[in-house]
Amino acid sequence: MSGSKKIIVLGGAGDVGEGIVRQLRQAGHHVGVPSRSQSKLDALERVTAGSGKLTGAVGAIDDPALANDMATRMGPVDMIVASIGSWWSGPPLIDVSVDDFNSVLAGSLTAHYTAARAFLPLVRGRDGGQYVFINGGAARMPIPHSGLVSISAAAQEMLKSVLAQEHSKDPISISTLMLFSMVKTRSRPDGPPEWLSADDVGRQITHMLDHAPQTGATITLAKPSDIPA
Ligand SMILES: NC(=O)c1ccc[n+]([C@@H]2O[C@H](COP(=O)([O-])OP(=O)(O)OC[C@H]3O[C@@H](n4cnc5c(N)ncnc54)[C@H](OP(=O)(O)O)[C@@H]3O)[C@@H](O)[C@H]2O)c1
Repeated sequence: MSGSKKIIVLGGAGDVGEGIVRQLRQAGHHVGVPSRSQSKLDALERVTAGSGKLTGAVGAIDDPALANDMATRMGPVDMIVASIGSWWSGPPLIDVSVDDFNSVLAGSLTAHYTAARAFLPLVRGRDGGQYVFINGGAARMPIPHSGLVSISAAAQEMLKSVLAQEHSKDPISISTLMLFSMVKTRSRPDGPPEWLSADDVGRQITHMLDHAPQTGATITLAKPSDIPA
């Protein structure tokens, strides 16, 4: 695949997603973003302006009707990027309530699962199509007082691996882009130069559009110089 492509970024109106959307649009690609909030989509249009079009859609990422509607509006989709879920800190695991446990996993692991159910069908028959999970280094590092993030992230890795095996006969790549860094974003712009920025993540995704990882792979990114030129 080359030239202008069509990418749906789930969580594209979030902190990391915004940099992905901006880099893709600035490279001339057509980007679709579902969000529960029209005002977030309006802001996204302003802060990611580029030659590539932005198609926003208000709705939930677990809704197959929303996914199909976006594909109808955009045309055949080349890549789905899932940048879903937020950081959580709290008490040691043993003191976390079951309600909080279920609620945090619902907003991260379950959200990734239900999003894949709704959006993976858009690319599964597309030659060269991709589904990319954004994940964090917490998947491999136990982080005290953020244990629910580590548990969810580790399980998200296995979700990717099982999906990749179950779709090994489809002509697509299902992969993870795992970020071993805090990410500098519009809401948290300051940080040391070795931290990744949301736009660095977007540059890596833009590179992956033409360099699809082997299905099942996990690409790690720890610092800006890891991004291929
Ligand atoms: N920020 C960092 O420093 C950092 C570091 C390493 C890895 N990461 C990874 O980057 C990804 C995104 O993080 P972020 O910091 O950009 O988070 P964020 O700002 O909270 O954005 C998360 C996005 O997920 C979307 N979302 C849609 N449905 C959801 C649901 N049911 N539950 C929860 N979220 C839902 C939200 O969309 P709407 O509200 O628009 O509907 C939101 O825009 C995560 O996978 C995280 O592990 C982040």
